[in-house]
Amino acid sequence: MSKEVPSALVVYESLFDNTAQVAQAIVRGLQRAGFEAHSVPVTSLASTGPVQVDLLLLGAPTHAFSLSRPGTRADAVRQGAPSDRAKIGAREWISSISPDRFGTTLAAVFDTRVAKVRRLPLAAGVTAARLLHRRGFRLLRKPVAFLVDGTRGPLVPGEEERAERWGRMLAAACLAELDHAA
Ligand SMILES: Cc1cc2nc3c(=O)[nH]c(=O)nc-3n(C[C@H](O)[C@H](O)[C@H](O)COP(=O)(O)O)c2cc1C
Repeated sequence: MSKEVPSALVVYESLFDNTAQVAQAIVRGLQRAGFEAHSVPVTSLASTGPVQVDLLLLGAPTHAFSLSRPGTRADAVRQGAPSDRAKIGAREWISSISPDRFGTTLAAVFDTRVAKVRRLPLAAGVTAARLLHRRGFRLLRKPVAFLVDGTRGPLVPGEEERAERWGRMLAAACLAELDHAA
């Protein structure tokens, strides 16, 4: 463990704020489990230096069955998303990071997607997990999907509570890993 209190950073991409709300709920769950935890948008993390945490989480909206690309983010802006949220996405950010920058290889991934297509296996989380693995991270759990009602949201009722529970569960899984490694 990097210090006495275990810590986690939740990095998210969010065009319409739904993934941001899920990220905040996960942070609450981590904090209730005793973690020092913060969430930060990928757009403001691009240029910061090293951060030491025990667990890195990444969340992103599903765009065209995958992580967003500049073209799909431009589409979201045309549908009303603020343009400053479109300047960088999780895909580009992952390609710029390595475990060294966070002091951990442990990672977890979540995505948001519309409720009616939730069973599609191809979504942002699967892609993010694959790309993070390539960068040298180890996924603590399989990617998890949180559901929105439509492109702009809102989150389906109960999803924030589920995200909070997922945060608590991940905290426990992370602590078990850290104990095991000690
Ligand atoms: C260009 C574009 C493509 C999308 N493609 C998909 C898709 O393939 N599957 C899906 O479930 N949702 C899709 N969506 C809906 C997004 O997943 C939804 O907007 C997102 O989860 C909302 O999260 P956010 O508010 O954090 O951006 C798409 C949205 C946009 C703008």
